[in-house]
Amino acid sequence: MKTQVAIIGAGPSGLMLGHLLRQAGLDAVIIERQTRDHVLSRIRAGVLETVTTDILEDLGIADRMRAEGLPHDGFNLADGERLIRIDLKSLVGKHVMVYGQTEPTKDLIDAAPSRGLDIVWQAEDTELHDVESDAPYITYRKDGAEHRIDARFIAGCDGYHGPSRKAVPASAGREFEKVYPFGWLGILADVPPCNHELIYANHERGFALASMRSPTRSRYYIQVPLTEKLEDWPDDRLWDELCLRLPPEAAENVARGPALEKSIAPLRSFVFEPMRHGSLFLAGDAAHIVPPTGAKGLNLAASDVRYLWRALVAWFEKNDSDAVVAYSDKALARVWKSERFSWQLTTLMHRFPADGAFDRRVQVAELDYIASSEAARRTVAENYVGLPL
Ligand code: APR
Ligand code: PHB
Repeated sequence: MKTQVAIIGAGPSGLMLGHLLRQAGLDAVIIERQTRDHVLSRIRAGVLETVTTDILEDLGIADRMRAEGLPHDGFNLADGERLIRIDLKSLVGKHVMVYGQTEPTKDLIDAAPSRGLDIVWQAEDTELHDVESDAPYITYRKDGAEHRIDARFIAGCDGYHGPSRKAVPASAGREFEKVYPFGWLGILADVPPCNHELIYANHERGFALASMRSPTRSRYYIQVPLTEKLEDWPDDRLWDELCLRLPPEAAENVARGPALEKSIAPLRSFVFEPMRHGSLFLAGDAAHIVPPTGAKGLNLAASDVRYLWRALVAWFEKNDSDAVVAYSDKALARVWKSERFSWQLTTLMHRFPADGAFDRRVQVAELDYIASSEAARRTVAENYVGLPL
């Protein structure tokens, strides 16, 4: 089989890129290791910046998001009993859209057949070949048969664990990593949210986040040591701990219910440079990971995809390679700004086991500064809604 762009991974990056390329009249095919149901069972953050909502709007795949997504004009930082509201609307004139990542992923998958975007599910042993040449190809196995896809370019949208990044020789790439000494224990439950906006809470017992999926579905997280086991966190213990950490008015409003999903995720900052090697491009989690504080993961995937889509269209339509050559630097400039923001918000809002009284005083001083300075709040707001492309 032959195509113009072979995409590895049917997560948000691969799906958005595939749709944008198809809309521009280019050929693309997506190879995914998992089943559709598995991809749609993954629960991830869901705060969309304009860069992401614009892609769905431009693709004409935004009806459900417009009907069911929750536009939020602000969010809150809490410290013990103190609540600091970041009024996104008045500070930067923008909002974010709360629409759990599973939902746009489903919308993109559902729209694929009618737009001629082929997705191969359950592809095993995907391998990349000749990525330094002008004629790269992918091989994979499905139902016991070997398959080969020849392409002009390969887009590695296969997440942190996928094979694409590993296809770049060690001598041609560099990794930057920061691992945090804790994880997030998350719970999803069909109960109304405790507050109409998100609350990121710093508490002496550890960080907590109150988030939501809809007016009847809540998503909460608490910071836990990485040694914690899920079986040691029955629902009641989790609800109790959450209520201890959230500010009192929010804690009083927490409605409890059985967990639809419960999981512990480690926090990590990671960047791989460069994001292009020959005919292989990396996009989304394949190239970078942010800790979830600030919900930048999906939005960074969207900005990568936007740059990459434009570069590929210019290459195929006008034989113009400038944007292809510039892709990595351009994407990384935005990636690093989001890495900085996610790291800073993580550092500000969590309790680090190695931190002492000095570090805590610095946190309090920074929160005081944010509470008292409109300029400081504007900086937080500008980053939260997403920096310009
Ligand atoms: N062959 C084919 N597909 C693969 C392979 C492989 N060998 N390895 C991984 N994949 C698939 C995964 O199964 C997954 O569906 O690549 C996809 C990558 O999707 P994501 O991990 O969601 O990454 P991305 O699309 O870049 O999305 C970035 O979504 O996942 C969140 O936290 C992430 O918010 C961030 C955003
Ligand atoms: C979520 O709702 O899952 C969520 C929201 C905001 C974050 C992280 C996760 O910063």
